[in-house]
Amino acid sequence: MPGAHLPQVQLKWPNPGSNEPPSIFNQPRILTMATRKLLLLPGDGIGPEAMGEVSKLIEVMNRDGNAGFETEEGLVGGAAYDAHGQSISDSDMELAMAADAVLFGAVGGSKWDDVPYEVRPEAGLLRLRKDMELFANLRPAICYPALAASSSLKRDLVEGLDILIVRELTGGVYFGEPKEIIDLGNGQKRGIDTQVYDTYEIERISGVAFELARTRRNKVCSMEKRNVMKSGVLWNQVVTQTHKAKYPDVELSHMLADAGGMQLVRQPKQFDVIVTDNLFGDMLSDVAAMLTGSLGMLPSASLGAPDGKTGARRALYEPVHGSAPDIAGKGVANPIAMIASFAMCMRYSFGMVAEADRLEAAIAGVLDDGLRTGDIMSDGMKEVGTEEMGDAVVARYRAAA
Ligand code: IPM
Ligand code: MG
Repeated sequence: MPGAHLPQVQLKWPNPGSNEPPSIFNQPRILTMATRKLLLLPGDGIGPEAMGEVSKLIEVMNRDGNAGFETEEGLVGGAAYDAHGQSISDSDMELAMAADAVLFGAVGGSKWDDVPYEVRPEAGLLRLRKDMELFANLRPAICYPALAASSSLKRDLVEGLDILIVRELTGGVYFGEPKEIIDLGNGQKRGIDTQVYDTYEIERISGVAFELARTRRNKVCSMEKRNVMKSGVLWNQVVTQTHKAKYPDVELSHMLADAGGMQLVRQPKQFDVIVTDNLFGDMLSDVAAMLTGSLGMLPSASLGAPDGKTGARRALYEPVHGSAPDIAGKGVANPIAMIASFAMCMRYSFGMVAEADRLEAAIAGVLDDGLRTGDIMSDGMKEVGTEEMGDAVVARYRAAA
């Protein structure tokens, strides 16, 4: 049975046993499309190597299964800066806006430490998120059984772990204005960032969290800092109201974000869906990711609002890991997070449920076979490089056809 190796859910399509996506991901237009337009943005560091393994897979799927993927490639991050002095060019932004989905590798590296702030590699990713209005970032943290021993926590705390962090992605302190360093004129400067949230932003992200919870274990924990931040007070109120008005059947709890971080490492399995703001979500998702054994394993999806007419959403899929410049170009990076991000893409953007299940099962199967890249290596396993890992996943995927 496809997916049989996976822990209970949630790289999986959220309605077990059914081909029906939950309403918020219902995209009938795309389900019947002949071509599927993908923009690949490999970026920097290990991004291109990891993306290379996805490209292989896309070729195989087009050839064997008439998947109809059409790919274009663009530059982002340091690679874009080196080519044209911007972290993403306007023409690549246009391609991103026109694509059915964007696959993103990673950006950044010490090579670009001194480039102007506005064109630093990360700015390309932030522009994509903002201009595509990708407000909902889904970061599943799942502990594959084969990797439970690689976690920094004890096996029984993480075995079967299946959390979904829903991070607000286009607001908060990342984008709030003013955002500047001003000269106070007395030898002092002042750095300012602005944490700001409006009602609608909190409503729509909590709506996504509640809807997803309904397809899982039906629990949402909202995290903010209402004890020190006005934006936290409003966050708490709006989540509570949204829950009462539209999702009273879902179990809702609230935690201060610092306590939430502590609980994540104390007893992670108490959580189902966590909904939180942009900055807390950034930090908490790295913590959650590490519980699973390696950052190299975890995919993410960033989604916009559905189009009123077609129901299609803008979407970008990226691994949670960064560009890892220290191992870039050596052929040792773990491509699994990138491949699993492509599985999320098939699931959420194209309704390719069976294919996504098969791909996730192939990943789990390769891990069961004992193949490991360096980041997840343990005694008695076989250490392989990026390409060998990618080939093994492709082979298992094909074999399960
Ligand atoms: C992430 C990353 C980004 C973020 C960086 C690269 C801008 O850490 O996606 O978690 O802070 O959001
Ligand atoms: Mg981060």
